Amino acid sequence: MDKITLAELGIPDHLPMPTKKDWRIGIIGFGGIARGAHIPAYKEVGWSVVAVADPDQNALKEAKEKYGIKRLYTDYKSLIADDEVEVIDLCTQPTIREDVVLTCANAKKHIITEKPFGTTVDECQRMIEYAERAGIKLAVHQNYRWMRMNYIAHHIVKLNLIGDPFFASIEIFGQQDVDLARHPFYSRCEDFLTIQWDNHLEDLLRYWLGTDAIRVFAKTGRMIGQNFISDNLLMVIADFGNGLTGHILHTELLRSSLGGVECRIDGDKGSIKFDFNNNLIIDSKVLGKGACKLDLSGSSFVSSHAGSMGDFLLAIEEGREPSVSGKNNLATIKTVIAEDKSAKLGGKWVVCSDKT
Ligand SMILES: NC(=O)c1ccc[n+]([C@@H]2O[C@H](COP(=O)([O-])OP(=O)(O)OC[C@H]3O[C@@H](n4cnc5c(N)ncnc54)[C@H](O)[C@@H]3O)[C@@H](O)[C@H]2O)c1
Repeated sequence: MDKITLAELGIPDHLPMPTKKDWRIGIIGFGGIARGAHIPAYKEVGWSVVAVADPDQNALKEAKEKYGIKRLYTDYKSLIADDEVEVIDLCTQPTIREDVVLTCANAKKHIITEKPFGTTVDECQRMIEYAERAGIKLAVHQNYRWMRMNYIAHHIVKLNLIGDPFFASIEIFGQQDVDLARHPFYSRCEDFLTIQWDNHLEDLLRYWLGTDAIRVFAKTGRMIGQNFISDNLLMVIADFGNGLTGHILHTELLRSSLGGVECRIDGDKGSIKFDFNNNLIIDSKVLGKGACKLDLSGSSFVSSHAGSMGDFLLAIEEGREPSVSGKNNLATIKTVIAEDKSAKLGGKWVVCSDKT
């Protein structure tokens, strides 16, 4: 198969990054994602994590001994009040969001939070209001947007290289029902795939297609003997109107090595097929070259959490709204809440609205 480069497609070969290099970040909630993804991502691009807040003494011990972080707090309010901390990175479970955002607004400190943004539309709207009133930036780590292939897929659609899309699909086959079987939050919550996980996937459909779902139809299933409380098989149809349909098939039940990710977007002038690693094939009538494999040599994408944090810091520098501001993320929250409701109704169309 012929190859095609990012330069030939007219797509950047790296993620945009802020010019200031010595950003001082304070992390609230030093659990799995903070240690496993945020710390290495920020190290990769040279930003310093100067403080950590967590009520768990083991988390603070780890922050001090393994990562050399000196400013340690059991109460996040003390971290937000610390003058050494310039921006706040909220990495707790979604049960802790609103008061942290309000405290940041009162202290006039910009904040980025892990997904999901909040647990209800009302809570998210209140957080947006606090931030707007205080003039602080409020962003959400929808870091999947900054994974290399998702970023490229977004640009292919935006550049009209496959024409007007009519279908986009994500299929994920994983085994977190085994890997996270004893996780105190994920294995016990009642909305693991629909809300906790799928906000990444519904947000990706919005990002790739540049528009928001109007209504969704979701159906879940479970395996006899599965570990998680919530169903770990999910099928979703998302109706974007104007002849545009999204599809998600996601299971975390696999007891085999045959997992993986398969995505595709089909338009009236071509298609792309891709995964979350390095593989993308484009067949575009606009390019007129037949099916081509993307050649990524020479490109240098940093990890996706550096991407979401980088956009947030760049938004502060440029005085603009972050790409995934709280306001922007509201449509993702409305979609996953509708999806969860649809699944709990056993599969019914549910409109993505303020009322879900
Ligand atoms: N973007 C991604 O790819 C991704 C991946 C995994 C998790 N996440 C999200 O990150 C968030 C955290 O997930 P996790 O897996 O790291 O969770 P976790 O349960 O491993 O860690 C949460 C941490 O928050 C701490 N905490 C609890 N209450 C606190 C408080 N009042 N103040 C400060 N800290 C407090 C806990 O002690 C714990 O250390 C969740 O919202 C999750 O959905 C995102």
